[in-house]
Amino acid sequence: MYQPNPDRYRDMPYVRMGASGVLIAPIALGLWQNFGEDYRYDVCRDTILTAFDAGVNHIDLANNYGNPSGSAERTFGRVLANELAAHRDELFISTKAGYAMWPGPFGDRGSKKYLIASLDQSLKRMGLTYVDLFYHHRPDDDTPIEETAEALEQIVRQGKALYIGLSNYNAAQTHQMLTELASRGLHCLIHQMRYSMFAREAEGALFGELRAHGVASIAFSPLAQGLLTNKYLDGVPTESRMNEKTTSLKPEALTPERLSQLQALNRIAQARGQSLAQLALAWALRIGGADALIVGARNPEQLIDSLGALRQVRLSADELTAIESVLAR
Ligand SMILES: NC(=O)c1ccc[n+]([C@@H]2O[C@H](COP(=O)([O-])OP(=O)(O)OC[C@H]3O[C@@H](n4cnc5c(N)ncnc54)[C@H](OP(=O)(O)O)[C@@H]3O)[C@@H](O)[C@H]2O)c1
Repeated sequence: MYQPNPDRYRDMPYVRMGASGVLIAPIALGLWQNFGEDYRYDVCRDTILTAFDAGVNHIDLANNYGNPSGSAERTFGRVLANELAAHRDELFISTKAGYAMWPGPFGDRGSKKYLIASLDQSLKRMGLTYVDLFYHHRPDDDTPIEETAEALEQIVRQGKALYIGLSNYNAAQTHQMLTELASRGLHCLIHQMRYSMFAREAEGALFGELRAHGVASIAFSPLAQGLLTNKYLDGVPTESRMNEKTTSLKPEALTPERLSQLQALNRIAQARGQSLAQLALAWALRIGGADALIVGARNPEQLIDSLGALRQVRLSADELTAIESVLAR
């Protein structure tokens, strides 16, 4: 029987999510890839339990995660029921809807019809009565913002989610939705955006908008889906996201210029006694970066390596300058 590490909360520097009472670990675990039916259950389970044992208290999901869609929520539900049932209240569990989930116009985008049904399905797959956070996964310009907001309001008022969040909304769309939510007495807890050394759009207006409204920022793909790790320094390994048939990380992303940047960044990481993944995560958490990050992991070893970033997050001014000059190449 699984016995959690009794010291799991001792060393984790929890961060407050904007203007709220919610404290989560600066590095959370996301189950987008590597947790579907096409992956070994025992490895999925061990990775989730490794996170819990390390004090990671936030697990991020979405209706469409895993292959087939929905299977990551089922895997998580199984781990929760079998190993973590006694610890549900220690976990901050999020899910989302906004991308295509089932056939027809009611299985996609931002209608009330879709969001309400999707969350009900997610709860069933995970065996939960509520999630801690429900996100609208992407903006939908064709649905009136009032309708999407109404759906989020209903979800919170019915207690199916404790908090609500937005993902992939740009600064202007975020401003509009935060205003609409505020008119209903609702606060958006977290905005989830792509953010890494190779994806810095959020540094424009978005981070400022979120800070102004007390909304936390949580970055997805902070390792650029594995590029910002030691994985691709010597070619494309067989067991890698880039080598999968239907991959979200195209081989074209690994240009000779990119590889030379990765090698230079790796040298900066080595000089700090860190792995490249650890440097990339420390950088994404620096002042001016995101409040927290969501990493993916293929196995417990990757997650342990990534969490090691928290042992040394501070970057000197010289290191920051050296990183900027590599990224400017
Ligand atoms: N809201 C959204 O639209 C959205 C979009 C994308 C992601 N997300 C969320 O963000 C989470 C993370 O996204 P992501 O998986 O793209 O993040 P990521 O952390 O940038 O990439 C994870 C991948 O990097 C590799 N990796 C991780 N740690 C490593 C380490 N220490 N050393 C070497 N390689 C390492 C693994 O690749 P291999 O599998 O190749 O080994 C792993 O699958 C998702 O699970 C999801 O929860 C949200």
